[in-house]
Amino acid sequence: MRAVECAENGAPQVLRLVDRAVPTPGKGEVRIAMEAASVNFPDVLMVAGKYQMQPPLPFVPGIELAGTVSALGDGVTQLQVGQRVVGGIPFGAFAEHVCAPAMVLAPVPDGVSSADAAAMFVTYGTSLYALQDRASLASGETLVVLGASGGVGLAAVQLGKAMGARVIACASSADKLAFCAEHGADEGIDYGTEDLKKRIRQLTGGQGADVVYDAVGGPAAEAALRATAWEGRYLVVGFAAGEIPKIPLNLVLLRSCQVVGVFWGSFVARNPERHQQLVEQLFQWVQQGRIRPHVHGTYPLEEAATALQLLVDRQVRGKVLLEA
Ligand SMILES: NC(=O)c1ccc[n+]([C@@H]2O[C@H](COP(=O)([O-])OP(=O)(O)OC[C@H]3O[C@@H](n4cnc5c(N)ncnc54)[C@H](OP(=O)(O)O)[C@@H]3O)[C@@H](O)[C@H]2O)c1
Repeated sequence: MRAVECAENGAPQVLRLVDRAVPTPGKGEVRIAMEAASVNFPDVLMVAGKYQMQPPLPFVPGIELAGTVSALGDGVTQLQVGQRVVGGIPFGAFAEHVCAPAMVLAPVPDGVSSADAAAMFVTYGTSLYALQDRASLASGETLVVLGASGGVGLAAVQLGKAMGARVIACASSADKLAFCAEHGADEGIDYGTEDLKKRIRQLTGGQGADVVYDAVGGPAAEAALRATAWEGRYLVVGFAAGEIPKIPLNLVLLRSCQVVGVFWGSFVARNPERHQQLVEQLFQWVQQGRIRPHVHGTYPLEEAATALQLLVDRQVRGKVLLEA
């Protein structure tokens, strides 16, 4: 079978298409004929050798896929051959056939395409867990989203609107902000050219944002925390800018606000029942048209490097997919 392999750490261009044996599912696993695998920022970090969890070389990257179950390992009773599934795995999704534990997979309901399922599982899963379970975002509150046109960011914009919040999208260009507005954002701030703290305060009548969703880090983080409301919640989701911010804790005290960590992968492992409920909620919302995953582009496996490079170059709106 065809698979994308990382044999040395570096830029996405180190990736090669190789021929590997079709894997046999072990106990508790199923084999999936991959139809869509989603590209996520952690893939870039893993290929670069900079992720918190590094597979031994050589490895097949890819942490998210959807497809059809083609074989069952011993002991699997909850899934059947021919069923469409989606799930997240530690690595290995960028291949024609992928084995994964049955317990990490969710059936994809009729009416949801494999592409949409792969485009939403990690990003919308992360953002729903962040906004609903971690921040308790309430209808009528103001939500500021940093990196709003990217994978988790766009999910946060759409979910924030679905939850009744007023959403202020923050991104690095007018084009990206226009895209966020098409997906429901009420207001936009270009943090490449505008003073982020000042603009958030202006747009909130001096009160600041009730909830800040930060998947970017870097210099935007402290500016956004300084524009967080009294008893607001600041969600630490990611550091796409590369720099992990160091925050003066007096800012937290002065606002009586909460700085709230979000680690979706660990949440899924620790609380699979709640994760399952959130997945069902997401599929219902996508079927009802309340959320709408956006696929920026779909590439064949041999163009994996091109797909990952789009993330490095900050070009992606929504999600990039690979297809087998
Ligand atoms: N906590 C969790 O459980 C969890 C789960 C999933 C992902 N994450 C993290 O969330 C972050 C975003 O992931 P994603 O998949 O949404 O990525 P993405 O689609 O590439 O979006 C990242 C956004 O960050 C902004 N950005 C700012 N500086 C950047 C830089 N130097 N390089 C690239 N992008 C930059 C870009 O928007 P602008 O150009 O508009 O600034 C871009 O749209 C990553 O750090 C990822 O590891 C965390």
